[in-house]
This record gives sequence, structure tokens and C-alpha cells, in this order.
Amino acid sequence: MAITKQRIKVAELSDLPVKMGKTVVIGENELALFRLSDGSVKAIENRCPHKAGVLAEGMVSGDHVFCPMHDWKISLKDGLVQEPDVGCVKTFEVEVEGELVYVLVGEEEAERGVTNGVC
Ligand code: FES
Repeated sequence: MAITKQRIKVAELSDLPVKMGKTVVIGENELALFRLSDGSVKAIENRCPHKAGVLAEGMVSGDHVFCPMHDWKISLKDGLVQEPDVGCVKTFEVEVEGELVYVLVGEEEAERGVTNGVC
């Protein structure tokens, strides 16, 4: 069965300073948006799988973010927590068209919200 996705405008590029996180809310979903040094934009679930640190407030290095609470290192590409810690956060597809940034969210996620631990 094909999964239908909603394309939702979440920001303009000028809202996203390089290597700084921004929290965006889509329905029940709270996402962290990051614009990386290479110009790409990434979107992940905004809560750390450890103790729910707010990842948009984390420090970005390369294509990883360090949780501001206890420094877990999380990939912005695939959402995986890096060793020696374990876990993952959900990642979201991002599209940039000109100045506009969109996130693609499954209809079910848009209704129910995302849940830590279901990556
Ligand atoms: S809450 Fe993120 S590392 Fe502890």
C-alpha cells in the first residue's frame, strides 16, 4: 500500500542560519530543522531518545547534532545515535524550492504525531 505524504511549508531558507537548529511544529509533530554547511536542510524528530533533550538546541558538527542534555551524537542523515550510545530518531524528507523549505510527512504521522523509539 502506497503511503500518502503531505508536503508542508515549514520555513524560508533565511529563517535557517547555518548550523543552528529551529523547532517547527506540524500538528502533533515537533521537528528540528537544520541547515548544514553544505547548504542542505535536514529534519528530524526534535526529542532525543535518551531523555527527550530538545535537539534543535543542540550543537551541529558536520552532519551530526549533539544533544544539549548529555551530548549524545545523532546523525542528521539517518537519525541514528552514534556509538557508544544507541537509539534513533525519526527523519523526515525535506524539499527546498527557491527560498521555501518543505517537509514531507505521512498522513498518519500528521494525525497521530511521531513517537520516540519508532524510527
Ligand atoms: S537527553 Fe539527549 S543525551 Fe540525554
